[in-house]
Amino acid sequence: MVNINGLEFRIWNQRRSKLAAAILNGLDVFPFQIDSIILYLGASSGTTPSHISDIASGGLIYCVEFSPRMMRNLVDLSELRSNMIPILDDATKPLNYIYLMEKVDIIYSDVAQPKQTELFIDNMRLFLKKDGLGILMLKSRSINVTKKPSEVFLEEESKLNANGFHVLEKIDLEPYEKDHMCFVCEFGF
Ligand SMILES: C[S@@+](CC[C@H](N)C(=O)[O-])C[C@H]1O[C@@H](n2cnc3c(N)ncnc32)[C@H](O)[C@@H]1O
Repeated sequence: MVNINGLEFRIWNQRRSKLAAAILNGLDVFPFQIDSIILYLGASSGTTPSHISDIASGGLIYCVEFSPRMMRNLVDLSELRSNMIPILDDATKPLNYIYLMEKVDIIYSDVAQPKQTELFIDNMRLFLKKDGLGILMLKSRSINVTKKPSEVFLEEESKLNANGFHVLEKIDLEPYEKDHMCFVCEFGF
């Protein structure tokens, strides 16, 4: 925390949080509100979830993470933050945690694995409200190391379109994250 003229500010590091990197790179659509209900996929030990928890202080963040080691830290953090709900599970199997969930305003996905787009789509279909928004932090090297990132991004965007989603915004996360693109999307009616 830093204190400026009697006001406390929390440092949000763009090299540790892709959401901060996207904001610095001009993210226009910022859906997080004080009462937002969010599903966060790939919560890790909770760095970015904790910043979202500051913003959505009257809402809820369902945090899915499948690594037990990361989950230990996430559980400790969730004990201090009443709006964070840790879920130890696999985001590629959303039916596993459907019984814990409600419909959400935002799905934020930062899961570096080959089926990043597919798992995002599956969770969007099951849990996003009709007027909700999805944010997908895509890492091209986790999908295909041999292809150019620009090709991977185009292919993954076409999967989003083919599955009925409309991409509102795309933000390249360079120089903070290499070969990462932030996609913001909604249901295309
Ligand atoms: C890049 S890190 C997330 C960092 C975090 N979003 C942040 O900004 O603080 C990706 C996380 O996704 C988790 N992960 C990978 N595959 C997963 C899956 N199928 N289900 C749930 N979590 C997964 C990893 O264990 C890792 O903690």
